[in-house]
Amino acid sequence: MGLHILVLGVFLQLFSYVVSEQSALLSSCPYGHGNEGFNLDTDHSDRERRNAQPFQLEVRPSVNEPNLDVFLKDFLPKYNVNPSSVTSGWLDLPSIEKQPSEPIKCGLPPQNCLNDSLNLHYRSIDGSCNNLLYPEFGIAINRYRRLLPPRYVDQHVQAVPNARLISLSLYGETTKTDSYRTMAAMQWGQFVAHDISQLTTKGAPKDCCAEPQHPQCKPIALPRGGPIAYNTGKSCLSFARAISDADAICPKSDLPYSEKLSVVTSYLDLSSLYGNSPAQNRRVRLFKGGLLRTSYVNGQHWVPVSHNENGECGSKSECYSMPDRRNRFTPTIALLHTILLREHNRLAEQLALLNPAYNDERLYQEARKINIAQFQKITYYDWVPLFLGRDYAQLNGLIYPEESNEFVNDYDESVNPSAYAEFSAAAFRYSHTQIPGWFSLVAPNRSSNQTLRLSDYFERPETIQLLSSSDNFDALIRGLATQLQKRSDANVDVEIKHYFNRKEFQEYGADLKSFDIQRGRDFGLASYNDVREFCGLRRANYWEDFAAEISGEKISLLRKLYASPDDVELTVGGSLEFHAPEALYGPTMLCIVGKQLLNSRRSDRFFFERDNHLSGFSRTQLAEIRKASLAGLFCSNAHYLHYIQANVFVFPNGRNSLLNCNDIPQVDLSKWQDFRAQIMN
Ligand code: HEM
Repeated sequence: MGLHILVLGVFLQLFSYVVSEQSALLSSCPYGHGNEGFNLDTDHSDRERRNAQPFQLEVRPSVNEPNLDVFLKDFLPKYNVNPSSVTSGWLDLPSIEKQPSEPIKCGLPPQNCLNDSLNLHYRSIDGSCNNLLYPEFGIAINRYRRLLPPRYVDQHVQAVPNARLISLSLYGETTKTDSYRTMAAMQWGQFVAHDISQLTTKGAPKDCCAEPQHPQCKPIALPRGGPIAYNTGKSCLSFARAISDADAICPKSDLPYSEKLSVVTSYLDLSSLYGNSPAQNRRVRLFKGGLLRTSYVNGQHWVPVSHNENGECGSKSECYSMPDRRNRFTPTIALLHTILLREHNRLAEQLALLNPAYNDERLYQEARKINIAQFQKITYYDWVPLFLGRDYAQLNGLIYPEESNEFVNDYDESVNPSAYAEFSAAAFRYSHTQIPGWFSLVAPNRSSNQTLRLSDYFERPETIQLLSSSDNFDALIRGLATQLQKRSDANVDVEIKHYFNRKEFQEYGADLKSFDIQRGRDFGLASYNDVREFCGLRRANYWEDFAAEISGEKISLLRKLYASPDDVELTVGGSLEFHAPEALYGPTMLCIVGKQLLNSRRSDRFFFERDNHLSGFSRTQLAEIRKASLAGLFCSNAHYLHYIQANVFVFPNGRNSLLNCNDIPQVDLSKWQDFRAQIMN
C-alpha cells in the first residue's frame, strides 16, 4: 500500500511537471506565435528574433485586408503582369521531349503470382500479388486514382490566382496548439502519408526559376510584398511538375488523360522502411538472422549513414540511408523510422531465440509481418480515431469493436488501394497545418531541455549528430509525447510558410502551402465544388452557399480571389471548412481521407485482422498484436525512457497518466513459438 502511494505520488508529481512544463514550454517558445488573418510580419517575437539576426532587414508592415487589394491587383490573372508567371494554363501532359536520364518504368507484376508460394504467405516487396486477381493493384510505380476526372485549368476561361498570393492572403500564421493531440500524432500521420504514396519530379531541372520554360517547370512568382520577396529580393519559388504515365513506360491505360505516378506501394506495409523494390530491399537487409542493417554508435543502433557514395544525399556530405528520403526530412520522422527499424531487429532477435531452426529469410519475413501488423493496428485503432473521429471510423468500417481475438474479414478483391489524387495532392496535406515551427527535447521530469527551430533541421546532416548524442533520442521521444501538435486550422506556421527548406546561412526559405496549392494544379484536381457534391454536400451556385461549411470572412476573401464558386480549388476550399465533429478535417476532406483509409484496409489481403491460415495470425497471436502501441514501441526501443503515457498521441491526463514502461502492455512473442515443421526450411 505504502509503495502504491509512493508510486502514485511520483506519477502525480511527474504529471504536474508535464502540465507546468508544457505551459512554460509553450509560452517561452520563440517561434510560431504569428498573427491571425493576413498579418504577415507584425508578430513581436518574430520581429525581435529577426532583429537579433546579424543581417538586419527592414520589416514591411503587415498585409491587411485593404492592402490585400493591392496584392490582388498585382497578381490576379486579369492584371497579370508577367507572362512567365504561373497563372498560365496547365496542360495535363508535361510532355518532356528529352528525358535526361533513364525513363521511369511502371511496376509490372509477375506473369503468375502462384509460381512463387511465398506470395501466399508474405507480402511481396513491391506490393504486387497482394491481390491475386489483379496482381498489379497497389504495385510501386503505378498510377494514382481519381474520385473525379481531372480538370486542368486551361480548359477554363478563368485562370487561377498565384499560389503564393493565396497562401499569403487566405491563411494566417498563428500557431495555436491542439487541445490534446501530441506531436507524435502529427508525426505518425506523416509516416502514414509516406507509406501510401510518393510523387516524383525526376528529370526536372534543379532550379525551375532558372528554367521557367522547361516543360516540367511551373515556378511560383513571389508577390512583391510578401516576406520572402521583400526580405530577399527573390521573385520566384522553384516548383517542378510530377511525372505522369506520359513520361514513363507503362502498360496501356484506358483513361482519356495522362495520370500521375506514385513510386511507392499503396498498401500500408512499411514500404518506407523495407523498400519498394528488390534492389531497395537488398540495401536495407543484413541477410543474417533476419536483421536489417544498422550503424552502431554510442552503444545504440541507428539508421545506417551514407557518405553520399551513390549521390543519395544530394548536395549533403552525409545522410541517413533510407529507401524513402522523406523519412529524413526532420529529426522527428527520422526518429520514428529508427524506432520501427530497431523494432524489426528486436522482433527478429526474439523470434530467433524462440525458433532456432528458422533461417534468415523466415526470421526476416516473420519479423516484417509482425512489424507491419503492429503499424496497422496503431494506425487504425489508435491514430485514426484521433484524426477522423471514433464514431466516424466505426460507422464507416475503418475500425471494429475490439474483441481482442476476433478476426475481421472485410477483404474485398475488387478494391484498388492506389492513392486517390484528391487524397495525396490535397486532402491529406491539409495536415500540413498541424506542423509546429519547433520541436522539443524533454527531460525525464518533463521539463523542456531544448526547443529547436524546424528549419534549422530540415533535411540537414546535423540531425544524425543530434539524435545520437547523449540522451537526445529519448528526449525527443518524450518531446513527441509531450509537445502538442499545432491546431489544424487555416493558419500555417511561419516555419512552413516562409522558412520551409531554408538552406544553411539563408534567412528565408520557401512556402509549403503554396507548393500544396500548386501541386493541386499540377495534378489537375477536380474543383472544390465538384468534390463537395461527390461527397454529398450541396453544390454552391452562389458564394453564400458555402456558408454552412466556410466562415463568412474566408468566403469574402475567396470572392476576391476567384471569379466564381466553381473556380475554387479543392486544396483551398477543402482546407477552410469547419471540422466535422471529433475530426481534424472538414466534411469534404474527411470524405476523401476516410475513403482512402477504408480502401487501404479492405484491399489488403494481408491486413492484420484477416482470418487466413496461410498469411494471417492465429487468434492468440491477433490478441497479442492488439496490445501493440506506440508507447510500447518507444519503451522497447529506447534506452533511457522509463515513463510514458499509454496513448502517446494524447497529452498525459488523469486517464492517460505517465506509466512505468514495465506497465505498458507488450506483445507477447511466445505466441510465435513454432512447434510445427517449418514450411520454408
Ligand atoms: C514536419 C512535417 C512535414 C513536412 C516537413 C512535410 C513536407 C512535405 C513535402 C515537402 C511534401 C512534397 C510537396 C510537393 O512537392 O508536392 C509533402 C507531401 C505530402 N505530405 Fe507532408 N510534410 C509533413 C507532414 C505531413 C503530415 C503530418 C501529413 C499527413 C498527416 C502529410 C501528408 C503529405 C502528403 C499526403 C503528401 C503527398 C505525398 C505524395 O507525394 O503523394 N505531411 N510533405
